[in-house]
Amino acid sequence: MKTKKVIVGNWKMNPGSVLEALEILKEIISGSASLSGIKAVICAPAPFLQRLSLMSKQRVAIGAEDCSFVEGIGPYTGEVSARMLKSIGASYVILGHSERRAIGESDELINKKIKSAMSASLKVILCVGEKTRDESGEYLNLIKYQLTAGLDKVKKDSLKNLIIAYEPIWAIGKGASRPATPADVLEVSIFIKKILAEIFGYEYGIRVLVIYGGSVDANNSGEFLVAGKADGLLVGRESLNARNFIKILRIADNV
Ligand code: PGA
Repeated sequence: MKTKKVIVGNWKMNPGSVLEALEILKEIISGSASLSGIKAVICAPAPFLQRLSLMSKQRVAIGAEDCSFVEGIGPYTGEVSARMLKSIGASYVILGHSERRAIGESDELINKKIKSAMSASLKVILCVGEKTRDESGEYLNLIKYQLTAGLDKVKKDSLKNLIIAYEPIWAIGKGASRPATPADVLEVSIFIKKILAEIFGYEYGIRVLVIYGGSVDANNSGEFLVAGKADGLLVGRESLNARNFIKILRIADNV
């Protein structure tokens, strides 16, 4: 059976209110109702998740954009645990996004979060990616480190709940120098699978889905999935516009 492409929307700190969030999701649910070849996921700010998941009823999966490194409960002001997120209907969580790394998240902290999310049975979307590319290939060592440190002591059996998102920082957001090319994506996803195979053994490593994120839109999404052989996409800005996001979902469904 063909593996479904996983198309994840990353809403970041948007939109400004839960009502706006519900509006966008409503449109996405109705626009994607007939699509059976994809898995659509919306990752949204934590305060919106419960309402979104009640509206979605699993038609579109709902995910968080971060979770605490702490398992269980306790004196951790401001922290939101993976188990709490799971209890309000989230089934995915994005971890290690470059925007969180930029405010100080280390690979060691991300590793704790991954283990905590996995123990709460959330599916983890681990973001890796370099700031800049250099001709000597140093960026590959950085990605290797992000994978080895981030997945330290993660059990092989948990890999079925892991997706790696390759997000080169130079291709993300409004300040992007350019989107990556399908060739960039293919090169790095093969590299990621190779590293995972080295860490966990071939059969386990090879099965982890590797998706691409960074300035994905309706015009370039097909290329990333076909020529770039990405297992899915992580979509920022364009996932807040329901119509554009639905276009991307339809393209992925046809691949
Ligand atoms: P973008 O964001 O699609 O707006 O470039 C992607 C991301 O940061 O996940």
